[in-house]
Amino acid sequence: MIKAENIFNKMQQVTMNWRYIYVYILIKCSSKNYSGGCDGDDKPKSAFSVIKPAPPVEIFHMIKLFQDDKDPKKVNLSVGAYRTDEGKPYVLPIIKKCEKELVNDPKLNHEYLPILGDPQYRKLAMELLLGKDNCAIIEERVLPIQTISGTGAVRVGCDFLAKCMKRRVAYCSNPTWENHFGICRTAGFKKVKGYTYWNPKKRNLAICKLLSELAEAPEGSVVILHASAHNPTGTDPSRKQWKQIAEVMKSRNLFPFFDTAYQGFASGDIDRDAWPVRYFIKEGFELLAAQSFSKNMGLYCERAGCLVLVLNDKKHIPNVASQLTLLVRQNYSNPPAHGIRLVTKVLGCEENRCEWASTVKKMSSRIKEMRKALSEKLVELETPGKWDHIVKQIGMFSFTGLKPQHAEKLINDKHIYMLKSGRINVCALTTKNVEYVAQSINEVVKADPLDDGEDCDEDGDDDDADDDCDE
Ligand SMILES: Cc1ncc(COP(=O)(O)O)c(C=O)c1O
Repeated sequence: MIKAENIFNKMQQVTMNWRYIYVYILIKCSSKNYSGGCDGDDKPKSAFSVIKPAPPVEIFHMIKLFQDDKDPKKVNLSVGAYRTDEGKPYVLPIIKKCEKELVNDPKLNHEYLPILGDPQYRKLAMELLLGKDNCAIIEERVLPIQTISGTGAVRVGCDFLAKCMKRRVAYCSNPTWENHFGICRTAGFKKVKGYTYWNPKKRNLAICKLLSELAEAPEGSVVILHASAHNPTGTDPSRKQWKQIAEVMKSRNLFPFFDTAYQGFASGDIDRDAWPVRYFIKEGFELLAAQSFSKNMGLYCERAGCLVLVLNDKKHIPNVASQLTLLVRQNYSNPPAHGIRLVTKVLGCEENRCEWASTVKKMSSRIKEMRKALSEKLVELETPGKWDHIVKQIGMFSFTGLKPQHAEKLINDKHIYMLKSGRINVCALTTKNVEYVAQSINEVVKADPLDDGEDCDEDGDDDDADDDCDE
């Protein structure tokens, strides 16, 4: 009996040992597959190996090249941010003052904001864009929602139009801020098209082409319009041209989506720059508008923005708000507070608001002075071509007409960083670097002249009156 028990125990022990050996072999074999850990040398194929490299985002690539450049003459004309005459980033004095007040405000905490944002901020942002006495505000048919800056407003707006309003086609100006096309595609529009905006020969607005292309757009298409200080061309439609655009859009039942990233930077006057949006509302359009405080309050990294929806009947607002709530909830849940608290402090106090408006005017005047300085220097150096468009253009940017090969030479040989489209940020010019920039442009253009067809307008005749399209 005892013997049989012993034999049984022995057998059990052997089985256990085999089990241990089996598990040991299993672990050894499987761990071989993961030997790529910290000190593994024969790495297996990564699950991420399917990922192909995406092209770099040009502006951020330029920032990196600029930062790595050790040349003391280097100039960064690529990034769309305001610079002082010392070439430094600018914190607006009113923002500095409000920031100190925020830090010392014992009532503030870091609780979540509501999904659609802070109510006071939303109201102030809406009033800034539309004007307090706007009929749509009085009739309570405007819905402003806080967004992650201008980009977030464009994205939430496009998501809403494509997913909730089932719009199929979106039109972006050609050229435009490079993110518009990408956002529209990602948002889910079935077709994303460009409408001609620029006449490269005359370096002005191709109004006739723009109108005729919009006149052929499928009914109900969404059209993204830059409210002021068009990026990258620095060229806005005149009021007469805006009226023509509104007329065509009305006749085709096109849906306007205004991108307002530069309110105040075009004319130096906050209200004046909002005129196109206000005009479209007056004309009875329902519309969307994306607002940003990155540029006009210098709040770039604080991501203060707003999406303003104007409806023709306030009864739809609760439904619209409920869908937007879901979109935002599933995307980033709720927006950040610091930047919008600053905006609220500036816009919510008359004294602060006046100081801010006068700072915007000063910033816009400095840009105008730099436009003049660059254009005059190029003329003085007898740089081939015409350079008056630099002065005629408005806002932060100048679409210089320089070609990709000029941009490449300026970057590689002169340490002047700019976009290959020929766009430069005029704010980055200073009284100290403008001469160097002009001389460098002069050199590259003399070596490789521009094909300046300045006496040929978009229709092929040499009529200089390009402001109208009176067919
Ligand atoms: C036309 C346009 N829209 C939107 C934006 C977005 O700006 P942000 O997201 O910094 O507010 C920019 C920024 O350069 C722009 O030029």
